[in-house]
Amino acid sequence: MRGQSAPIVIKADGLAAGKGVTVAKTMEEAEKALHDMMVAKVFGESGNRVVIEEFLEGQEMSILSFVDGEIVRPMPAAQDHKPVFDGDKGPNTGGMGTYSPLPHIPQSIVDEAVERIIKPTAKALVSEGRPFRGVLFAGLMITKDGPKTIEFNARMGDPEAQVVLPRLETDLVDIILASLNGRLGELDIRWSGEAAVCVILASEGYPGSYPKGREIEGLADAEAQGALIFHAGTASRDGAIVTNGGRVLGVVGRGRGIAEARSRAYEAADAIRFEGKHYRTDIAAKALRG
Ligand code: GLY
Repeated sequence: MRGQSAPIVIKADGLAAGKGVTVAKTMEEAEKALHDMMVAKVFGESGNRVVIEEFLEGQEMSILSFVDGEIVRPMPAAQDHKPVFDGDKGPNTGGMGTYSPLPHIPQSIVDEAVERIIKPTAKALVSEGRPFRGVLFAGLMITKDGPKTIEFNARMGDPEAQVVLPRLETDLVDIILASLNGRLGELDIRWSGEAAVCVILASEGYPGSYPKGREIEGLADAEAQGALIFHAGTASRDGAIVTNGGRVLGVVGRGRGIAEARSRAYEAADAIRFEGKHYRTDIAAKALRG
C-alpha cells in the first residue's frame, strides 16, 4: 500500500453491515484502518482480508439489474448517500437515503454503465462457466472519465430497493420465475414514471454504537400521509414498536417528480418520533440543484 498515495480506499473483504469502508485522506488514516481491520479485528473475521482501491471522485449511482445469464434487464438507476451527515460529511454508513430516477444524470451515462460494465460482467460470468441468475447490484461512481465500478453485490441494494421496487409495475414473481426459467429476455418489464425518495431514520450515535429499545411513535400518521415505511432496525415489545438497530426505518415518499416525492418523504420523516432520531436533510438535493 505504501507504493500508493492518499486518498485511498480500504475495505474489509467480508460483510460489515455497510461500515467496512474507509476513505482515507492520509496514509496515516489508511494505516490505522488496516490496523483496526486486520489487527484489532473491529469487524471480526470480515477483516481478515482487505481490498485496497483507487479513490474515485464523482457522484454515486447504483444500478440493480435482473440477470439471466447474458440477459441483463437494468432497473431504473438510483443514488445512495453513504456518509452520515448532510453535505456528505462524517463516516460512511450502510446508506442514509436514496432516490430514483436521477433526472440530473443523462441517460447516456446510465446506458454507458450498462453496456460497458454490467453486460460484460454478466457475459464474463457465463464464459467462466458460472452464469448468474438473480439481481446484480452495481455500485458505480460517475467520474470525469465516465462511470467506474466501486463494487458488485449479488443482491438488491439497501436503501436502493426501497425507491426502485415501488416503481415496478410488472409482478416481481413473474420476473423471478422468468429469470430462473431462462425466459427473462422475453418479458416486458414495466416501470411507473413516478419518483421515489427514501430517508433513513437512524438511532442516536449511528454509525457508532447506539442504544436500542426506544419507543417509536407516529408510524400510523406517516402511513396515513401516503408514505411507505420499511422497518430495518425495529422490534415489537409489549405492544409497542421500538428501535432495535442503527438504521431504524426507511421512509419513502412518492410523487410526480423528485421535488414532490422528497417533500412527502420529509413530512412523513418528521411525523415519526423516537428519542435521538437523526437523518440527513439533503437526500436528493443534488437532483434538484441539477
Ligand atoms: N446501498 C448500498 C448497498 O446496498 O450495498
